[in-house]
Amino acid sequence: MQRLSHLLGTENLTREQITFILDQSKPFQEFQRYPLKKLATLRGKTVAVAFFESSTRTRISFTTAAARLGADTMALQAESSSVKKGESLIDTVRTIEAMRPDGIVIRHASSGAPEFVAERLEIPVLNAGDGTHEHPTQALLDALTIRDRKGGLEGWNITILGDILHSRVARSNIHLLTKFGARITLCGPAMWVPRELENMAPGLRCTTCIEEALEGADVVMVLRVQTERIHEPALAAEEYILGYQLTAKRLRLARPDALVLHPGPMIRGLEIDPVVADGAQSCVLEQVTNGLAVRMALLYHLIGGAPVDAPHPAKDRSNASD
Ligand code: NCD
Repeated sequence: MQRLSHLLGTENLTREQITFILDQSKPFQEFQRYPLKKLATLRGKTVAVAFFESSTRTRISFTTAAARLGADTMALQAESSSVKKGESLIDTVRTIEAMRPDGIVIRHASSGAPEFVAERLEIPVLNAGDGTHEHPTQALLDALTIRDRKGGLEGWNITILGDILHSRVARSNIHLLTKFGARITLCGPAMWVPRELENMAPGLRCTTCIEEALEGADVVMVLRVQTERIHEPALAAEEYILGYQLTAKRLRLARPDALVLHPGPMIRGLEIDPVVADGAQSCVLEQVTNGLAVRMALLYHLIGGAPVDAPHPAKDRSNASD
């Protein structure tokens, strides 16, 4: 298998690489249940975690994943850094690189920022979300959740609800899941689900009718409504709720064993009814836990540099530092 040198998106990953990352994540999932959660696998390595845009779960998840592998982290928070003083992206990341981290995790409001950085630095770059472009670790953790719950990743009917046009989560999921034969329905208000999106990948269908979108779905992925994009009179929150909120009644149109996924942060009462968010079909917290496992697998692969067939660090307990 072709080793990854960066993780910039899911568009250019092969099925084999995706399956490898998901397989490598499995023992790290088990590992999250151990009473002592620290390995020595990346001891002496440093991971820079540079967030130029706000984040709760992705930032904490990457930082915790690095710590559980034994690595140190260097954190950059844009709000409290020289970015505020007008320093350019490349100067900021070159400054971080001069402190010799072994890899950098980057979130940025501009689409393409991680790729721009990867072309200029010598170390592995992991995209933690860039503008409206990609959020590959989110799609990988979603895939792990689907594969676990459904016993495989192949050929499901997946419905993605919300602002597809501006969603990096939707884009990364579309690229990943269509490689595994998913039939994906994109659903939301017309201005957020333009027909041209159907050209993104084979097997894509766009609709503005939520009932049609949910019929027979195996997985319903609900996106956060980016409230900054709700502008009356074009679209009021009440209209969105009436037309597109995932309610228990609507969910009954999907298959009885359909999974409900949400990348967070959830706005309860807007895109999702709290009854569904907390219901038996919801995988929201499992997604968060799986995020740790996927990020540990990626940091291990990209920064640890071990051969792809090396014994897995979470299985080989002689490697534990506890
Ligand atoms: C998403 C993001 O920031 O792209 N959240 C996340 O990383 N879990 C989704 C969102 O903010 O809408």
